[in-house]
Amino acid sequence: MTRRLATPVGITATGECFPDRIVTNEDLAKMVNTSDEWITTRTGMKLRRWVEPGVGSSDLGSGALKMALDRRGMGADDLDCIIACTVTPDMMFPCTAALIQQKVGASKAFGFDLNAACSSFLFGLTTGAGLIASGTVKRVGVVGCDVMTSIFDKSDRNTAVLFGDGAGAAILEPVEEGYGLLDYEQQIDGSGAPYLCMPAGGSAKPASHATVDAKEHFVHQQGQEVFKNAVREMANVSRLMLDRNNIDPKELTLFVPHQANLRIMDAALKRLELPREKMACNIAEYANTTSATIPTALHQSVVAGKVKKGDLVVLAAFGAGFTWGGALLRWAV
Ligand SMILES: CC(C)(COP(=O)(O)OP(=O)(O)OC[C@H]1O[C@@H](n2cnc3c(N)ncnc32)[C@H](O)[C@@H]1OP(=O)(O)O)[C@@H](O)C(=O)NCCC(=O)NCCS
Repeated sequence: MTRRLATPVGITATGECFPDRIVTNEDLAKMVNTSDEWITTRTGMKLRRWVEPGVGSSDLGSGALKMALDRRGMGADDLDCIIACTVTPDMMFPCTAALIQQKVGASKAFGFDLNAACSSFLFGLTTGAGLIASGTVKRVGVVGCDVMTSIFDKSDRNTAVLFGDGAGAAILEPVEEGYGLLDYEQQIDGSGAPYLCMPAGGSAKPASHATVDAKEHFVHQQGQEVFKNAVREMANVSRLMLDRNNIDPKELTLFVPHQANLRIMDAALKRLELPREKMACNIAEYANTTSATIPTALHQSVVAGKVKKGDLVVLAAFGAGFTWGGALLRWAV
């Protein structure tokens, strides 16, 4: 069944924020036993951005939200709600949304954090759109922000090469009938939890000397298990939404998958029988920025003029949990 909102809601502006420091594959090869050749062929990544110590997700997130507000010509006071999508909150509490609210000066907004790992932005988008469709709020800022350098082990080659820091944001508002979020699909399956997680630091295993010594505050991943599920589910949800809306994949202008591995993205693209030009792709420059991959890849496509009013866009995400989903949009501005 199509999950169409009662009121049409769409993205009216986007923004991004990255730290200045660029880390190349060659830089990583000096830190761990890896090579540019291995990273490029296995992941498609060439560069990533890393924050300087002391920079948190709220710093990047507020930068991205400010850019989105500027591009919309909107003041921070016009926002009714901020949803901060992140797996790397500045602190366990208060929520990162509160810190972003204060940094952008959104004096009339409420807000909260949303964590569905790499699907966070997608789930935040549909949550924000649902709030607007319910009639309780008019303008929502959805921010995907992650400082992944705070949670991976820089001495472990299995994870150190995969992630970057960054943030992307989208402003959601009511739009014309027939535009905006046309359909979405979201799933969660906790049997995937052991394959991608940060084992300690939460309530089940609070931080202790033993957990730090065992490096349990870092990302732990069984890459191949994540890989095959990501390919299957991102392609499946995208195909499902297109089929139930009677849209041929050829009619799509842009496919924006989560950017965790170029091989995963290409495999999903192949299953949709779409050419590479239709895929938003920034993995070579920014690596996997978790909650920020989809909004930044989308933003860069918008800035490059690849999306215009009326175009069909599909977003597809997969992350720890497992969580996954897709959104079908008719671009509204
Ligand atoms: C992580 C990932 C890139 C690994 O690629 P892979 O082809 O599956 O590689 P494997 O894990 O099988 O490892 C193959 C070999 O490369 C080695 N290796 C791992 N990282 C390496 C690196 N940075 N440099 C060189 N060798 C490396 C492994 O140690 C292993 O060596 P071994 O065979 O001697 O044990 C890939 O599985 C992946 O992208 N998975 C999905 C990740 C993902 O989507 N995560 C986020 C989801 S939101």
